[in-house]
Parts: sequence; C-alpha cells; structure tokens
Amino acid sequence: MAAKIIDGKEIARQVNEETARRVEALKAKGCTPGLAVVLIGDDPASQVYVNSKVKKCAELGIYSEKRVLPADATMEQVLALIAELNADSKIDGILVQSPPPKQIDEEKVIAAIAPEKDVDCFHERNVGRLLIGKKDGFQPCTPRGILVLLERSGIETSGRHAVVIGRSNIVGKPLAAMLMQKAKGANATVTVVHSATPDIAKYTRDADILIAAIGKPEFVRGDMIKPGAAVVDVGINRIPDPATGKNRLVGDVNFAEAVEVAGAITPVPGGVGPMTIAMLMSNAVTACERRRG
Ligand code: GUN
Repeated sequence: MAAKIIDGKEIARQVNEETARRVEALKAKGCTPGLAVVLIGDDPASQVYVNSKVKKCAELGIYSEKRVLPADATMEQVLALIAELNADSKIDGILVQSPPPKQIDEEKVIAAIAPEKDVDCFHERNVGRLLIGKKDGFQPCTPRGILVLLERSGIETSGRHAVVIGRSNIVGKPLAAMLMQKAKGANATVTVVHSATPDIAKYTRDADILIAAIGKPEFVRGDMIKPGAAVVDVGINRIPDPATGKNRLVGDVNFAEAVEVAGAITPVPGGVGPMTIAMLMSNAVTACERRRG
C-alpha cells in the first residue's frame, strides 16, 4: 500500500498563517519584527535561498534587509557588518547564509552574532541551551520544521526508534538532540548513523521514524525501510535526467521505492523545504516578542 504523503507545503502554510497573526499582534504594540539575511558571494543556490527568505518576510509582514558582500569579502568586513546588525534595533534576527566563501571562518562569524538574534540556532550558546533542553534559546529551523511536520501529521515520537542519517551541525546533530529530549513531540530513542557507519541498512530497517539528511541522491532504497515507518527526506540534490537532458531535483530517499514501503513520507520538493523557511520566520518573530514584545 502506498504511503501517506506528508504535505510540507500545506503545514508550512498553516505555520506561516500563525506567524502572520503574531506579527500583527506585535505591530499593534508598535513593533515590527526585522530579519537581516547576509549573503557573502554569488553562489546561485544561496542566492535562491536568500531571495526566498526575503520574499517570505514580505508576505508575512516582517521587515527584512538583504545584505550582500562580495565573494572576496574579508573577515573584517563580515564582522563589521555583524556588529552593525547586532546594534541595529530594527533587526531582531540575523542569518548568514551557509556556506560562506573559503576565506571566511564561519565559526568566528557565528560566534559574533548576538545570541538573542541567532535565529538559525548556530551560536554555541544556543546549541548548548538546546542540548540541555532549555526553552530560552532558539530551535534550528530544519530540525524544528521536521518535528512540527511529524507532530501535525499525527506521528508519535515518544518511545519510538528514530534513526537519523547524517551528523551535520545544521540538521543531524541538533535533530538528534531535539528528538531525545524529555518533552512533548520528542522523547524518542535515537540512533545517528553516518559516513563511517558500516551497514547503515541494519539500523534504518529498525527505524519507526527514518530521517535522511546525508546529502546523497536517493541513498535510502525501499529495502532499507521498515514497512509502515515514517520517512522524512531532508535532501535537496540536483541530478541529470537523461529523459529531458536537464537536471532533476531528488531527495536523499528513492521516493518511488520508499512510497511503497513506508507508512508516511515527505516528498521532495514540498516536504521539509517549505518548513525550514516557515520556522525561520517563526524564530524571527519569537526574537522580536522576547526583545520588544
Ligand atoms: N544553508 C543551508 N541551510 C541553511 C540554514 O538553515 N541557515 C543558514 N544560515 N544557511 C543555510
């Protein structure tokens, strides 16, 4: 039987509607939430992501500033911009699009962002708060979006085995930390597998909830999935399509195979992607509510 498709676009629309209402409430008190999106260089994919974040701000009534630095920008230039945005009272959230060019030390840039404006939850203070289960930091956008997708699709996490494929700082590590928290919408038994794990399928076949965030096109095949499992695909990969001669967007899961085995599955596109932006908007509004609401 084919899996239920988890509609990330629709769930993101609902979250965005809620966020827009929070923006209205803030505006009624004289505060407009503000997000600064910093792009260093001219990577085409990053440009697309940054533009879609700015566009979503406009849709929800959030003030935004797109700040672009050249591909050969120096650390001094980047740190000066972060200092300016930290001090700017119109700006509640600061996001520096990752990855930056090679000459930029991303860790140092993240460390320079004021933790109360760190809507990505990349700053070590917020990552630490997340790990120990404190609620006064932020939750990183993609992992938070995944938990909201599961919760709003009625997929229980408590006591179930969640297997995360991938250990990046943006997705795998924080998601594992969030899933294991003693909290509503979490409380899972978590396994993290990665590039050095022998026989990944041995673990994935035991997953009630399988999250693929490894960055390898169609890595998860149907026979790696437990029948009835919930499968969340974080991958965004462009691969050549011989049928059209163009590129085709695929996830980290072989959808055609997985949909026949899983109980529920997120599509690519239209699954995790829209949720990431929705949670960024929500975090920017949270930052404003805390600082100025
Ligand atoms: N690049 C890919 N995902 C993200 C994200 O969530 N935040 C930032 N800042 N850069 C990214």
